[in-house]
Amino acid sequence: MSRTEGKVTVIDHPMIQHKLTIMRNKETSIAGFRRLLREIAHLMCYEVTRDLELELIDIETPMASMKSPAIKGKKLVFASILRAGNGLLDGMLDLVPAARVAHIGMYRDHETLEPVEYYFKAPSSLEDRLIIVVDPMLATANSATAAIEKLKERGANNIRFLCLLAAPEGIKHFTEAHPDVPVFTAAIDSHLNEKGYIVPGLGDAGDRMYGTK
Ligand code: PRP
Ligand code: URA
Repeated sequence: MSRTEGKVTVIDHPMIQHKLTIMRNKETSIAGFRRLLREIAHLMCYEVTRDLELELIDIETPMASMKSPAIKGKKLVFASILRAGNGLLDGMLDLVPAARVAHIGMYRDHETLEPVEYYFKAPSSLEDRLIIVVDPMLATANSATAAIEKLKERGANNIRFLCLLAAPEGIKHFTEAHPDVPVFTAAIDSHLNEKGYIVPGLGDAGDRMYGTK
């Protein structure tokens, strides 16, 4: 279940919305928050991959030979924007265990809200692979736009961005910077506050996942 406007798809399946409500609740434990993020990743992965092309391959069942559908083309790449992206990544890998993984280490400077890069490691060939970039939060979109810039510099030419919550300001910035990259989110919230946090949001996703402050 989803609705698409331009390049932005809101995956508003009731299961996702219910789990997201529990995640937003400030009383939810770290263990609960992590588990729910992983579960939501399963449901969102299902939607973000729903149009993947299939090809028929030859297999033998215990009963007969048959041509059976399998996902066509090169292995997918999941690119996680650290740290919080790893919460979504774990769930995505549960569904697509053979995917390749890129890690993009980036944190927001709390004063400037600009991303500071501290790590980048990606599979060597990104061209002509579907790359799904994951990060639960699209706030100013400074982190996501910079991460996708890096991937494009390395040859990526087929990218999707998957998050849990997006701010309207972040969507505007992101779609202007990368009009070729579709965005999938579970919800679009009201606005950013003066510190660049999504309102009503769920707080700091990395801190809530890892128990840091
Ligand atoms: C959070 C989040 C995004 C970024 C979103 O990461 O996971 O990467 O902020 O904000 P933006 O759209 O304004 O760039 P954070 O910098 O807190 O790092 P962390 O995941 O290591 O906690
Ligand atoms: N990063 C977060 O983790 N939460 C926000 O609300 C904004 C950026």
